[in-house]
Amino acid sequence: MDNDVKIIAFCCNWCSYAAADLAGISRIQYPCSVRIIRVMCSGMVHPDMILHALNQGADGVMLIGCHLGECHYQDGNHKALARMEILEEILTDLGYKKEQLQTTWVSANEPNMLVDAVYDMNERLLELKSAGQ
Ligand code: FES
Repeated sequence: MDNDVKIIAFCCNWCSYAAADLAGISRIQYPCSVRIIRVMCSGMVHPDMILHALNQGADGVMLIGCHLGECHYQDGNHKALARMEILEEILTDLGYKKEQLQTTWVSANEPNMLVDAVYDMNERLLELKSAGQ
């Protein structure tokens, strides 16, 4: 059932990718519907990349970075957050649902938080799909 949706997760190198790595090392199960793309910082994810993922068939896109105030490039995640808020409005205008986007902050030692966020997203997208949206 997990793999009925496709999730693209952009994870910053320093915290969220490290958390995903730790989840793997710790053998914490997470939905196989997620495909992780490692980026140096959440602030480096251009909105075009998110739009491209959705246009290419992703059911949802997650942007996962360091906690606010802990970005390794100072304010990259603040910029990412501002962009995501605007992008949410644009995507709604284009016919996508707000639920298809998720922004999450985790530190490298919070693999469970990352996994929980992926499960939440997976669940939400399955609900959207079963509602025919
Ligand atoms: S380095 Fe993680 S959000 Fe910027």
